Amino acid sequence: MKFINESWVENNRLIWSGVLDILLDSVEALYHSSYAQPIKPYLRFGNPKNRIIAMPAFVGGKINAAGIKWIASFPDNYLKGLPRANALIILNDTTTGVPLATIEGNRLSAIRTAGVSGLILKPFFESRKNAILGFSGYGFIAKNHLEMIKALYPEKISKIYIFDQRNLENEKIDFPNAEVQLSKTWEEAYEASDLFITCTTTNNPYITLFPKEESLHLDVSLRDYNPEIVMSFDQIVVDNWEEVCRENTDIERAHLSLGLQKKDTLELAQFLKNIPSFIGKKTFFAPMGMAIFDIALANAVYLSFLEKNFENKS
Ligand SMILES: NC(=O)c1ccc[n+]([C@@H]2O[C@H](COP(=O)([O-])OP(=O)(O)OC[C@H]3O[C@@H](n4cnc5c(N)ncnc54)[C@H](O)[C@@H]3O)[C@@H](O)[C@H]2O)c1
Repeated sequence: MKFINESWVENNRLIWSGVLDILLDSVEALYHSSYAQPIKPYLRFGNPKNRIIAMPAFVGGKINAAGIKWIASFPDNYLKGLPRANALIILNDTTTGVPLATIEGNRLSAIRTAGVSGLILKPFFESRKNAILGFSGYGFIAKNHLEMIKALYPEKISKIYIFDQRNLENEKIDFPNAEVQLSKTWEEAYEASDLFITCTTTNNPYITLFPKEESLHLDVSLRDYNPEIVMSFDQIVVDNWEEVCRENTDIERAHLSLGLQKKDTLELAQFLKNIPSFIGKKTFFAPMGMAIFDIALANAVYLSFLEKNFENKS
């Protein structure tokens, strides 16, 4: 069994366009029901804001990989100088079950999260000349989003607003041909943005304003919007309804308090396959995070590791 550590993953980074290709192959497997992915259990103990999640999956189609991600989220870790999330991924041989690799998965998890957003951004940016981008929360996941957008859609961003409850004055944030403005309030970033991405760690939804016309909202942190705001979107996309309609997410609260149902939403594979339209629509995407995407990317890292080690030996 191979052990692939975080610095190997970092030093042999998958390129963003390659990440999207792998995720698109996974969406294909999802669309054709060539996958297995039990609902992920949340292990909680002690402080209820902490959790460790088990994410097992098999992805078929072109990918053919199986394994599990085990990811801990301790939001106060920053007080100890540690990352919020810490992950390990185990890959198993799909014919024998024998473990093939254990991979440190912090960066890979963030790449997966930003990559899945990238899948939706592709048709979004195709439908418009450019967009004002806004973030609420600018930690590790937001930075991975900005890196992905810079790599894949650099010419599409006209201005960037960033709000964080932390002071960001010492952060170096730049983007080609777009001014970056640190906002004093989430409202300033929200009201200006055509593309608004939440990457906070809040459990207390604060978004009470209706979205801008034709805007796309990526609710990556899942607990930021009040139910009536969620219900005001013209299209609501989820990665998987059964996953996302629980654990006190914005989707679950809209379901319980205002009757949002699965039939009122579009699932990601269906949405992407049906040539998505954003014109004249306000769109909300709530991704709970799907293990198939983590396993597919981990498999790509493993294959690249084997190839590079073989090159080094030959
Ligand atoms: N949906 C998914 O697939 C997925 C995947 C990975 C992470 N996440 C979520 O993304 C979020 C961010 O993760 P991270 O690793 O970047 O965490 P992080 O701790 O590195 O960054 C969080 C940032 O949000 C800021 N923040 C917290 N509450 C805020 C608020 N109310 N308003 C403004 N800023 C606020 C913090 O100051 C910090 O800078 C987490 O909620 C995590 O659960 C979702």
